[in-house]
Amino acid sequence: MTGLLLRDLAQVATPAAAAGPTARGAELRAVDVIDDAYILCRGETIADVGRMRDLQPLDGEVEELDCAGLSAVPGLVDCHTHPAFGGDRVSEFSLRSGGATYEELHAAGGGILSTVEATRALSHDGLRERVERNAAWMLAHGTTTWEGKSGYGLDRETELASLEAIRSAGGSATWLGAHSVPPEHADADAYLDFVLADVLPEAARVADAADVFLERGAFDAPQARRYLEACAAAGLALRLHGDQFTECGAVPLAIDLGARSIDHLEATGDVGVRELGYSDVVAVLLPASALFLDRPMPPARALADAGAAIALATDFNPGSSFTTSLPLIASLACTQLHLSPEEALVAMTVNAAHVLRASDRGRLAPGMRADVTLLDATDWRYLAYHLAGDLVSTVVRAGSAVYRR
Ligand code: NIG
Ligand code: FE
Repeated sequence: MTGLLLRDLAQVATPAAAAGPTARGAELRAVDVIDDAYILCRGETIADVGRMRDLQPLDGEVEELDCAGLSAVPGLVDCHTHPAFGGDRVSEFSLRSGGATYEELHAAGGGILSTVEATRALSHDGLRERVERNAAWMLAHGTTTWEGKSGYGLDRETELASLEAIRSAGGSATWLGAHSVPPEHADADAYLDFVLADVLPEAARVADAADVFLERGAFDAPQARRYLEACAAAGLALRLHGDQFTECGAVPLAIDLGARSIDHLEATGDVGVRELGYSDVVAVLLPASALFLDRPMPPARALADAGAAIALATDFNPGSSFTTSLPLIASLACTQLHLSPEEALVAMTVNAAHVLRASDRGRLAPGMRADVTLLDATDWRYLAYHLAGDLVSTVVRAGSAVYRR
């Protein structure tokens, strides 16, 4: 088996092993740092991590990469993105900069529905190219594992083409069939009648999970429950966009249904924080979306202190968060969410991997998939410190260098 040796690394930083599948409480801050280190990959897997002075003579064919001046963190995991879309929302962005709100634009038929129109207009190849472009942007920011949602088709053909495009670009596909109500349906209930009968059976064969936008102006709690229960019965894992603008019952619903995650939480109050602290539903925080829309940040510190399993993600999409940079999210986590660099790293590696049930990702340890992001810094905390820095130097995925700056 061919090998790859990352040698003379200034630092290797990895979440420490946790007691459960996610790191919570004090474990969120447990990052092991090795100075003057190496990582040895064999095939697609990490064989060994250690200090240079302890490196043993190597057998077989091993390519060596000189990593002097660089630090290594696990390949980053983006567990919440919307990469399957046509067009852009740059004009809407300009309107918002002049004072129009996201919810007003949505209510006036702009927002998500304008992207639905642009996405339906793409050919299948065009959609695939867009997802591939977006995946390449993610990789250049150090992301080696990502989830992508449909939700800009909202008809059978475009939803299924979106899921296929996400899978073929290497993403974990989530069916966001309940993102918005498209204009050809009378109301949310009529739309759900259609998608659950006509799209779910096929979507369940392609996607890993289902997601719903539970919000004023989108789907209410009974409708979200109906959609999610049908998706669970078809074998899909469950996720929710919840408490983005208003608390509409998303936290109790997520807990009751045993969802993998509830994402956004900008409007979550003390009761929701406490409930998530005791539950296994991962709280996925999306600070770039709050920043991009000039909305309040989610109560991340309170969630972490309550013992919740937190993850961080970009929420990459054309309307509310046009960024693919998890390093930027790490900076926002530290400056806006009052998390430490250690908590940010854990939340965008091992905890995010758990949302996707990718248990071989998110730590640099023997037996894990050899996904490594090399940062152009001798202290790994530059991941958060270097605000909007261009610091991803090389990305190794499954034992091969797949990106070099
Ligand atoms: O997660 N809030 C719902 N969905 C996306 C935004 C979609 C859009 O504006 O196009 C989000 O923020
Ligand atoms: Fe989202």
